[in-house]
Amino acid sequence: MTTPDAIHSRRAFQEGLLRWYDANHRKLPWRTEPSLYRTVVSEFMLQQTQVATVLPYFDAWLRQFPDFEALAKAREDTVVKAWEGLGYYRRARNLHGLAQAYVTALAKPETAEQWQALPGVGPYTAAAIASINHGEEIAVVDGNVVRILARLFAQDTEFKDAATAGRILGPLAQKLIARVKRPGDYNQAIMELGATICARGKPLCLLCPVRLHCRGWAVGTPEKWPRLAPKAAKKIVIDRCWVEKSGKLLLRQAPVDARRLAGICELPEAAYLGYDPGREQPILIRKRGIANENIEERIYQADYKQVDAKQPHLRWVTLDALDSVTLSGPHKKWIAYVLGGKKDSSHKDTKITKVNA
Ligand code: ADE
Repeated sequence: MTTPDAIHSRRAFQEGLLRWYDANHRKLPWRTEPSLYRTVVSEFMLQQTQVATVLPYFDAWLRQFPDFEALAKAREDTVVKAWEGLGYYRRARNLHGLAQAYVTALAKPETAEQWQALPGVGPYTAAAIASINHGEEIAVVDGNVVRILARLFAQDTEFKDAATAGRILGPLAQKLIARVKRPGDYNQAIMELGATICARGKPLCLLCPVRLHCRGWAVGTPEKWPRLAPKAAKKIVIDRCWVEKSGKLLLRQAPVDARRLAGICELPEAAYLGYDPGREQPILIRKRGIANENIEERIYQADYKQVDAKQPHLRWVTLDALDSVTLSGPHKKWIAYVLGGKKDSSHKDTKITKVNA
């Protein structure tokens, strides 16, 4: 496609995409039994998180908080506990705040603009909710959509990053959705195409319902787009402490107004406890890549007399009662791993040098 203004090709694109979606979409619980509440919960969970990770949380959440009213009435720590392991915990607090705002609102939000006034609802989530539930003709734009648009139009501009690309390509996405018959399904179809066919590495063009509209496909090298400025990965090393005293483990609980991990417990950083590991061997090393960072976390066993346990936000938690606090996902696994020497195959990069707990 050279321009989304050409009505015939736009309509053919929309119809091809919708036909494909109808026949091929994954039967996800928020699609098979749709409701406003289910859309909102799924869209919050799907922010920065893949469908496969979300599925078990979504079902458990719906059982625990079946509707906006039940969620609005729940205690905040119960809500955050139910989110344990999904990460980006601010989403749980925002979703809780949204439920409270929604049940008390006299005029319920409908348009994307109105939805954006609620906690945790950015342009993407607002467009998803307003199109899926209220039929508003407003395009979602995220990394998947950027990739599809950049390939469709063989966009040679080099973008600083995906967010910049989203801002620049947003108007194009909006032109493409114009006068579509089912805006919600169209948006979900674009998301589905990005997740299953127009993949980041090698796209599965032969299965693509809109390849005949795609300049990237016509040129033969769709994987060349989008063009994003390369960034050097940053290496970050974080030293942490495992401190036990009388059957209790020392944890740091991030303050409730913290920007990240508010109210969530983690193994404290060595520097926070004034502990210098020197030439000690860590009991656990864990490497992971997040966005543009390669993070190596090393956990050192320290004696409680060697650390400053009087720092604010530290808690001694009985080992048998660790389930009563909300731990971040990785820390929950590491702690279980150290305590039980548990086999955890999801931690391929975890290296246990010595477990002595
Ligand atoms: N990602 C964001 N919203 C989604 C949805 N409704 N279905 C699948 N993936 C999504």
